[in-house]
Amino acid sequence: MRIGVTQETFAGETRVALVPAAVATLKKAKAEVLVQQGAGRFAGFSDLEYAEGGATVVPGREEVIAGADIVLQVRSLGANPEGYATELSLAREGQVWIAMMDPLWAPEPVADAAKKGVVAFALELVPRITRAQPMDVLSSQSNLAGYKAVLLAATELTKIFPMMMTAAGTITPARVFVIGAGVAGLQAIATARRLGAVVSAYDVRPAVREQVESLGARFVELPLEVQDAQDAGGYARALGEDFYRRQAEMIANVLPENDVIITTAAVPGQRAPVLITREMVEGMRPGSVIVDLAAERGGNCELSQPGKTVVHHGVKVIGPVNLPATMPYHASQLYARNISSFVLNLLKEGALNLDMDDEIIRESLLTRERQVVHPRVREKLGLSASSEHGNGGNS
Ligand code: NAI
Repeated sequence: MRIGVTQETFAGETRVALVPAAVATLKKAKAEVLVQQGAGRFAGFSDLEYAEGGATVVPGREEVIAGADIVLQVRSLGANPEGYATELSLAREGQVWIAMMDPLWAPEPVADAAKKGVVAFALELVPRITRAQPMDVLSSQSNLAGYKAVLLAATELTKIFPMMMTAAGTITPARVFVIGAGVAGLQAIATARRLGAVVSAYDVRPAVREQVESLGARFVELPLEVQDAQDAGGYARALGEDFYRRQAEMIANVLPENDVIITTAAVPGQRAPVLITREMVEGMRPGSVIVDLAAERGGNCELSQPGKTVVHHGVKVIGPVNLPATMPYHASQLYARNISSFVLNLLKEGALNLDMDDEIIRESLLTRERQVVHPRVREKLGLSASSEHGNGGNS
């Protein structure tokens, strides 16, 4: 089994799918690893380190893709909308591609992969079950994003985070409010606490209250009836316009008490719910900062613009994109652990084993035998419910 790693082509993507330390793990499973020259350079991993780890470093993307049975990337298909087609044109029938592919948000490229005969796995669709935790790329990368969101807020805020008692007087700590206490939110809470802020948080899933409190933050109770806020995969469900409107009204009361708001409310494959309107921003104190991690998905704040900082009534609204790529060394290290665990689960005695009884394999498989097989992606593409080689009724 030959596993290929290419340099990423998405603009600003500095991560690499496999780091030198992960090469050894795959070699133990009797795989050979081909790495494109310079693939790890932006993340801080040299060709020499890959070679020392046991990989064969080859000059170009073409050689890697031509020589590999499995291609590993950080971004492919919908997660690399400008670049995927050129890469896909190099693919071979039956070749396995594994990457983040954003198939529920951008399903069209999945149809292209099917046409090409590629067997595509989207790592975002790995179910959030215990056995799959080492493969959970959303968690590993969001965790870093939550950390960085707080650092961005701290550098933009006109205040400092910690309480300070000095000869020149006492400074009260900054107040941070985190909306959405999933992976990114929990790390944001922990990071803000480490910097000395007073932190509170809110989530539609009441189950997270304990986690929020265990990190030393206050859980903000909004008296809203929430049923079925969580799906079987552990993700939030969309809750409807009326719910979001009432929720926004209640959040409006909490915002002015805070200096920093970090929003992470996400519903997979859908536009992010708007939880902070223009008027609500106008009700905040000038100098406050909002970091909207959902900016790429339309934003939890009405004013967010992806990749930009908007200043409105003295409030800075930051809409960062691809934060993990600002920490490519560790982001790649974690991603490599995720993707190599996924590959090991696909291999049996050195050969590919597409066991459709394994829910990790079944739920992340997008295409097979020239068909789009993932039911939710088929639905997004307007295809009939099941394909000849479908992966069943997974959600
Ligand atoms: P997650 O699914 O672990 O957490 C999202 C949380 O939001 C869940 O706990 C969910 O219950 C909660 N939520 C959903 N709707 C809500 C609502 N109306 N009110 C309050 N809470 C609500 O997701 P994760 O992995 O923490 O990611 C969070 C966000 O960060 C996503 O939008 C993701 O795309 C984004 N992200 C952004 C990055 C960037 O560079 N800007 C990098 C990584 C993630």
